[in-house]
Amino acid sequence: MDKLLLLIMAASGLSAVSSAAGLQYYFVYDRKNFTEAQRYCREKHTDLVTVDSMEVMKILTNTADLDNMFYSNNSYRAWIGLSGGSWRWSLSDPSFYKPGETDFRRWYPGRPNTGDSGQICTAMGSDGLWYDHSCDIMHHPICADVRA
Ligand SMILES: *[C@@H]1O[C@H](CO)[C@@H](O)[C@H](O)[C@H]1NC(C)=O
Repeated sequence: MDKLLLLIMAASGLSAVSSAAGLQYYFVYDRKNFTEAQRYCREKHTDLVTVDSMEVMKILTNTADLDNMFYSNNSYRAWIGLSGGSWRWSLSDPSFYKPGETDFRRWYPGRPNTGDSGQICTAMGSDGLWYDHSCDIMHHPICADVRA
């Protein structure tokens, strides 16, 4: 995807699309709190993205690097589907996961560190690492379509 196409998509409020086998990922340019992000992804796609392997993480960070052209600093964060303090994936269908995949974690060192003070939702940085955040913060959702 080239810069111009991404720029047009950003201007029209659409999302950048990236895909792996059977999966498509959508970076949504409207910022939403976690609850709204989850609702939006479940309405328009399958759910908020599940990051259950290095392969998925690499696809997302490659796309996020492009997004940095618009966010212009390293503070880029996007909602992924992990939440609740017990850190379960929003996409809960067990048939989606291979053995061990639900346990894949990529926390920024020292995170999560504030689960008991209400930071029970998960945002991914442009480095692909995860941060526990308060669910009312506005971030860009990453949604996924899952095809059988
Ligand atoms: C998210 O935003 C909606 C709509 O503004 C609001 O009703 C809801 O309480 C917010 N949720 C959180 C967790 O902040």
